[in-house]
Amino acid sequence: MAREFSTVGVVGLGTMGAGIVEVFARNGIDVVAVEISAPALERGRATLKGSTDRAVAKGKLAEADRDALHERVHFAVGLEALHSVDLVIEAVPEHLDLKQRIFAELDRVCRPETILATNTSSLSVTEISVATSRPNQVIGIHFFNPAPVMKLVEVVRTVVTAPEVVADVEALCARLGKVDVTINDRAGFIANALLFGYLNHAVGMFESHYATREDIDAAMKLGCGLPMGPLALMDLIGLDTAYEILDTMYRRGGRDRRHAPVPLLKQMVTAGLLGRKSGRGFYTYERPGSPVVVPDEATPLATDGALADGARAVAKVGVVGSGTMATGIIEVFAKAGYEVVSVTRGMEKSAKVCEAVKTSLNKGVVRGKLSEADRDAALGRISWSATLDHLADVDLVVEAVVEELSVKKALFASLDEICKPGVVLATTTSSLPVIDVAMATHRPADVVGLHFFNPAPVMPLVEVVRTIRTFPEATATARAVCAALGKTGVVCGDRSGFIVNALLFPYLNDAVKMLEASYSTADDIDHAMKLGCGYPMGPFELLDVVGLDVSLAIQRELYLELREPGFAPAPLLEHLVTAGYLGRKTRRGFRDHSHR
Ligand SMILES: NC(=O)c1ccc[n+]([C@@H]2O[C@H](COP(=O)([O-])OP(=O)(O)OC[C@H]3O[C@@H](n4cnc5c(N)ncnc54)[C@H](O)[C@@H]3O)[C@@H](O)[C@H]2O)c1
Repeated sequence: MAREFSTVGVVGLGTMGAGIVEVFARNGIDVVAVEISAPALERGRATLKGSTDRAVAKGKLAEADRDALHERVHFAVGLEALHSVDLVIEAVPEHLDLKQRIFAELDRVCRPETILATNTSSLSVTEISVATSRPNQVIGIHFFNPAPVMKLVEVVRTVVTAPEVVADVEALCARLGKVDVTINDRAGFIANALLFGYLNHAVGMFESHYATREDIDAAMKLGCGLPMGPLALMDLIGLDTAYEILDTMYRRGGRDRRHAPVPLLKQMVTAGLLGRKSGRGFYTYERPGSPVVVPDEATPLATDGALADGARAVAKVGVVGSGTMATGIIEVFAKAGYEVVSVTRGMEKSAKVCEAVKTSLNKGVVRGKLSEADRDAALGRISWSATLDHLADVDLVVEAVVEELSVKKALFASLDEICKPGVVLATTTSSLPVIDVAMATHRPADVVGLHFFNPAPVMPLVEVVRTIRTFPEATATARAVCAALGKTGVVCGDRSGFIVNALLFPYLNDAVKMLEASYSTADDIDHAMKLGCGYPMGPFELLDVVGLDVSLAIQRELYLELREPGFAPAPLLEHLVTAGYLGRKTRRGFRDHSHR
């Protein structure tokens, strides 16, 4: 028989605690909600009220249910109020000594059978548990932010946690409508161990002016389908909490430099810029605690026309290449009303590309996304050629040929001879340095990277890469063109992986290392990222779709360029590639796809 939890206590009503109170009260469990002082208690009460009022306004909670929910919560200052609860969840700031003090006190105040749980993100549950006389009844119950929304709970057992306590807490999670994964006590558990290196890396990009906060966040949302960008997520988590988590993970998790908090974080915390809770973090919010971002001095000016910031007029575009990317890019430009000159290495290839573009446009017609007239107009705007000479009068060239530096350099040297002055020359490379290609011409100031995502007609993101020689007008032109294509162009520096791949692949590689260390299973890791962080796919699902060989190649490039030891490809990834398990395309990768 599973233990009955009729009353639970929550200690600390900040970002997480207030949400945890809501989760229990919504599910018919009485809560004793405890804070350190009367003002902090009032803040916690206001957070709970704000959240439940928003749920009512959105039609997700009936007014009567909200009122019943509030009646189940008893607010109090001080731990003494927890004398008769069945379970306590502690959610105070991420400091070991503070948590240990609170657990020692809880041990004294609570009944001997009460389970004591911590919501810590990175501290050792074992170290917290030994502050009590009942370490076998101490467990980690790690909720995700916002607790009422995110489905995942990581249940952390220590070497001494009693198995029946684990089972009781698992049953409780099910009663709360949550999905739990039960794991051992290791820094960052599953989700944070994979998340925080990525978040810290994104802060580093921002700190070094590699890209703006808006562009970093847009890149990860639009390029990977994440629910929010890394800097907006840092603001939601709270920069003080994020700093403590990183700092603990750095010390507990093998001193991986990627977890050493980026200096800017400490400065922001010292300056009181804590994120949403203080009204200002990477972004500025309407007021403390509000999720509404308001413009500030760093907000980019809204550009109304295509020709802002010295952008040059572009009407005619050349696309060189005949592969998947070139085909998609031709379609995108033609549909957006540009005259397009497609250049391939022979009319046979041109005929193939032409067929592929037609097929794709026809699909749009069948799906009702494009009228027949618009399809015909788009096709009418494309001319097909097998010689670069036809690019003499275009305003922009997009190169999408094979990913080999020597081929691209030779092509750019030819474009330099053929194209008129003032043309923007763009490469779609995803891994080569754009500056290498630019220096093959006598006009490096006009060369940019335009990194489209596959499939180009669908994906809303384009990375606009500026080299150290690129003129602002060329970048502005590329960005204006992206806007005219209905895509978001994010500008970044010329470094391996640009924004998206540089942030995405080390995280995927870390997931492989976690699997390799037998800390958890591929299924649980995928679950954790989807249900805890709202990712559209788990890391192993994504790796199997992208291809393990492609992923390994990108990870190797990142490692070679940045020499970051933590970026070294996971041996398991290398072995799977060597074994020919490349993902869905070979019907086997991390999972067996032969029967699906
Ligand atoms: N923020 C997140 O996204 C997130 C997600 C999961 C887990 N966590 C973990 O949850 C815990 C709380 O983090 P947070 O972000 O909610 O912090 P927070 O700073 O928003 O809230 C902490 C609250 O604890 C209160 N408090 C401090 N000392 C207390 C005491 N002695 N007695 C009672 N209350 C006290 C504070 O007044 C404050 O309201 C941390 O361990 C953190 O790692 C955070």
